[in-house]
Amino acid sequence: MDASKLLAGVRVVPVVVIDDVDKAVPLAECLLGAGLEVIEVTLRTAAGLEAIERIAAGVPGMIVGAGSIRTAEQLEAVQKAGARFGVSPGATGRLLNAAKRSGLPFVPGAISPSEMMRLLQRGYTLQKFFPAGLAGGVPFLKAVAAPIPEVRFVPTGGISEKNAPDYLALQNVAAVGGSWIVPADLLAAADFDAIGQIAADAARLGV
Ligand code: 3PG
Repeated sequence: MDASKLLAGVRVVPVVVIDDVDKAVPLAECLLGAGLEVIEVTLRTAAGLEAIERIAAGVPGMIVGAGSIRTAEQLEAVQKAGARFGVSPGATGRLLNAAKRSGLPFVPGAISPSEMMRLLQRGYTLQKFFPAGLAGGVPFLKAVAAPIPEVRFVPTGGISEKNAPDYLALQNVAAVGGSWIVPADLLAAADFDAIGQIAADAARLGV
């Protein structure tokens, strides 16, 4: 189902790739402490699912979602793990049917007007726009605002602290997402002070 209610007011979503499941809870606590209340844990690593489970159980103030969902089975698994929402780089009929069945707030991806309209037809007014930079970035999103005014987007892919304000200034951008908030080297080093600084700067982008 549409995730626009759950994510209303959210402006910045850290997209995180977790290799070491033991870092999941301290990372979520660090981001929450910096003012970011939503985290998207990608299913790109073997630790992703367990990381979601641990954050859901151990950091109740954090709205944990699962990213990079490609299959109906993954969607069911993340819901069982305690994910509050799911995100996909795209959408398939099977995945959308599973999302509907599950009732899990879901953010499917679209990068063309037809894809956006098909998702809108299914009730998705909040859609991911990935890879944002390569798919046309700010000018593209600005251009689709007039013919498809019902849809708001979460662009990800190539977003940084530098260009995030340009995206956030668009009326059809609900939030920006990206991995810049949790750099892999800082997470590997468990440098939560440095991550906290970047996260606090990111949180300020949204106010
Ligand atoms: C995503 O899954 O949304 C993207 O991989 C994030 O893209 P980025 O790494 O360029 O921020």
